[in-house]
Amino acid sequence: MDYKKALAEIIAKCTKLPLEDLLQAIEAPADPKLGHLAFPCFRLAKEMKKAPPVIAGELAAQITENCPPWLSEARATGPYVNFFFDHAIFADDVLTEVLQKREDYGRAGVGKGQNVVMDYSSPNIAKPFHVGHLGSTIIGLSLDKIYRFLGYNVTSINYLGDWGTQFGKVITAYLKWGSKEEIDKTGIDGLVELYVRFHEEADKDPKLDDEARAWVVRLENGDEEGLALWHWFVGLSVAEYKKLYKRLNMTFDLWGGESHYNGKMDTTVELLREKGLLQESDGAQIVDLDEYKMPPCLILRSDGGTLYPTRDITAALDRQAQFKFDKCLYITGQEQILHFAQFFKVLELMGYPWASGLVHIPYGLFRFEHGKLSTRRGDVIKMEELLDEAVAKTKAIIEEKNPNLADKDTVAEQVGIGALIFNKLYTNRIKDTVFSWELMLNFDGETGPYVQYAHARACSVLEKGEYSKDFEFDPALLTEDEAFDVLRIIYDFPAKIEDAAAKYEPFMIARQLVALAQAFNTYYHHHIVLVDDEKLRRTSMSLVAAVQLQLKIGLELLGMAAPVKM
Ligand code: ARG
Repeated sequence: MDYKKALAEIIAKCTKLPLEDLLQAIEAPADPKLGHLAFPCFRLAKEMKKAPPVIAGELAAQITENCPPWLSEARATGPYVNFFFDHAIFADDVLTEVLQKREDYGRAGVGKGQNVVMDYSSPNIAKPFHVGHLGSTIIGLSLDKIYRFLGYNVTSINYLGDWGTQFGKVITAYLKWGSKEEIDKTGIDGLVELYVRFHEEADKDPKLDDEARAWVVRLENGDEEGLALWHWFVGLSVAEYKKLYKRLNMTFDLWGGESHYNGKMDTTVELLREKGLLQESDGAQIVDLDEYKMPPCLILRSDGGTLYPTRDITAALDRQAQFKFDKCLYITGQEQILHFAQFFKVLELMGYPWASGLVHIPYGLFRFEHGKLSTRRGDVIKMEELLDEAVAKTKAIIEEKNPNLADKDTVAEQVGIGALIFNKLYTNRIKDTVFSWELMLNFDGETGPYVQYAHARACSVLEKGEYSKDFEFDPALLTEDEAFDVLRIIYDFPAKIEDAAAKYEPFMIARQLVALAQAFNTYYHHHIVLVDDEKLRRTSMSLVAAVQLQLKIGLELLGMAAPVKM
């Protein structure tokens, strides 16, 4: 049942205010002792020419006269009317719904018929998958899951950085100083070394830059030797990335990198020219964005080479043609805000109405306390090392807390990686994430392990009590505040998921999970679940089953595992 709506209808009858306004005005007080929903009467004061507390008193009395069963009390407190739900009816309502829908509780059809393209992770070939891409990967994966859960038709794309000037440099360096045996052994690391060496040597000998540029032109013209090397570099990079995706339990619908648009950009340039948007500037072709207070968007370099925006504009045109997206989401670090604003504007100026469906979803940095992270080497923190360290630290904690746990390695992997994911998703995404192992692996803090542990605890209670789906419960036995608090958080959960999708903020789910885990732990400390009385035992276990399902749904929407034992 939609309690807010039901209440709004009652107040509408009494006050003649429009339902929409009431839905806006009714709020949930932060402290449930002040009611489960509240209606502020300020707005009515002018019209009714009475003081808000007087109105509140009258409204409370009026509603009390015809109180529906689910409402146990309407109480005036100052200018507010506070409403209290009947705990047993509420418990019956929420538990029945969750236990019936199970894994599908909160799954909604709001996205039905809408196509969403999501562009995330997107590491750069021949460079390690570093921590900068962790944000895009984690936030992207979570939004992907959330949108699918809500019924959107999602296409996920890993838009690899597999084209551009860096390949001219790597090829030049490889032909001068590299060898096949070496790269076969070292993979991406070897390519990075070549890249670094290129820059060192080019400082002394600028002719190298010309050679690299010549390779870029050769690549763009389909040169066989160059492309063979490029293919090899792409292949070995992708193989390394796939190992990471496997550990994160993720796949993409499409791998369509920047190179995919090579040879397709002439059409884009032609379109821009036809629409009168191209201008020459120092030999380069640009779209002037002065009017929109942005620097020009670069389309072609003076040597005719294409650029990152050229490829993105072409990719957007192609995605619209292919997927008819209502929304195309790009998840990257905040340092790219300008790039996206520029090319979105160019597409808008080209006259495409669908350009309004392009959304950039930026996020803040990972900040490291210097010297605290043993994986820190140079400036690049490699994702693989980060995951390994998270897992190793978790394993050590498990060895200490629960040495007899079965399958410790799997659990350490799930909890260690989960801790990293949760840490990134626990705050507003634009905020920097401060990286601290102590904080993120604190099993008693607001962390991934804390939520996963609550889930495992629920599972073990269900196992011990031999829970079965056909257990009946008696809602009259679930009227204590601790049970009500748990149920309220579960009741609110679906709306939080929709909010998280609308705002592109998985943290709203992460927070709700912590709230639920805390409420569940409080319940668990106050009430013995596995009591002798069968009716009471089955009833409490039904509540625990609902908690377990909700925690699992929430964890999965964040891209985390929900281990049954920890
Ligand atoms: N490869 C880029 C980078 O690492 C991110 C690509 C984001 N997606 C896009 N369509 N531009 O910075």
